[in-house]
Amino acid sequence: MRLAGGNRQTGRQRNWLSTVGMSGTASLGLLIAGCSSDPGGSGDTAAATPLERGKAYYTTCAGCHGNNGEGIAAMHAPRLAGMDSEYLERQLLHYRADIRGGAADFYGVMMNGRAKALGEDDQAVSDVVAYIATLPEPKCSVSASPFEAGRKHYATCVACHGESAEGNKELNAPSLIGLEKDYLVRQLTNYRNDVRGAHPDDTLGAQMKVSALVLEDDQAVEEVSEFVASLHEPLPSSAN
Ligand code: HEC
Ligand code: HEC
Repeated sequence: MRLAGGNRQTGRQRNWLSTVGMSGTASLGLLIAGCSSDPGGSGDTAAATPLERGKAYYTTCAGCHGNNGEGIAAMHAPRLAGMDSEYLERQLLHYRADIRGGAADFYGVMMNGRAKALGEDDQAVSDVVAYIATLPEPKCSVSASPFEAGRKHYATCVACHGESAEGNKELNAPSLIGLEKDYLVRQLTNYRNDVRGAHPDDTLGAQMKVSALVLEDDQAVEEVSEFVASLHEPLPSSAN
């Protein structure tokens, strides 16, 4: 996979500094202060671990996605905690390259700017994703769902997303556990309307687009989303 591995050290410090310049939040300032006063350290911000850098980058995300990555419905920002790291990395790189988002994607377009602001190379993307991987995962409670109509539609999704919407790493299909109904409806509608998954470089999105078109109408989209959204217990909320 082109995103994984490789030497992405180059420009890390430049990245870091541009992120700090972009954000100016208190916690970034503190972290920097902590780094430069490290008695054993070189004073080089590159000495921070990926997790420390990722945590600092995440302060620019928390206002919308929540301190625990649980998502904030009022901001239309989905849960990130518990999502597969490769999936998250791919989405961020797609936002950076305008493969996802864009003017037709009312809520997605704000992520284009956020993802690009992470830095000049992709190291910051892996760092922030490494941090997100440490946030608490939502719990699943599949048997409790009362939404039978949605469960029937979901039968066409099982092969890729799994019985409990837990996702399938081999098929690159993300977990859907913990995503809100409105977010799910929007993504499925975006896939169906060529707003997501239509870019020629979005091979996996194109697969999902075909699957979204299997749902017969908007009501089916609503019902399957209601069902999937019922498969989880809410994450502990940290936000407002
Ligand atoms: C201004 C609010 C806002 C900020 C700040 C923000 N996001 Fe988002 N993010 C959103 C919204 C809204 C969406 C959903 C877009 C959609 O509906 O398609 C989203 C979507 C995403 C997705 C796609 C999730 C998925 O399940 O496909 C990822 C990944 C993501 N954001 C990561 C981040 C990271 C990392 C940061 C910080 C660097 C960040 N976001 C900052 C609002 C924000
Ligand atoms: C052929 C396999 C396949 C099937 C069947 C499938 N999906 Fe997907 N789905 C994927 C892949 C792969 C992705 C990730 C695309 C990407 O990485 O951009 C995805 C992404 C999604 C997303 C976006 C998640 C997010 O966090 O933004 C949603 C929502 C979704 N699928 C719902 C469904 C539903 C509901 C069904 C059944 C109607 C379904 N999928 C059927 C493969 C599939």
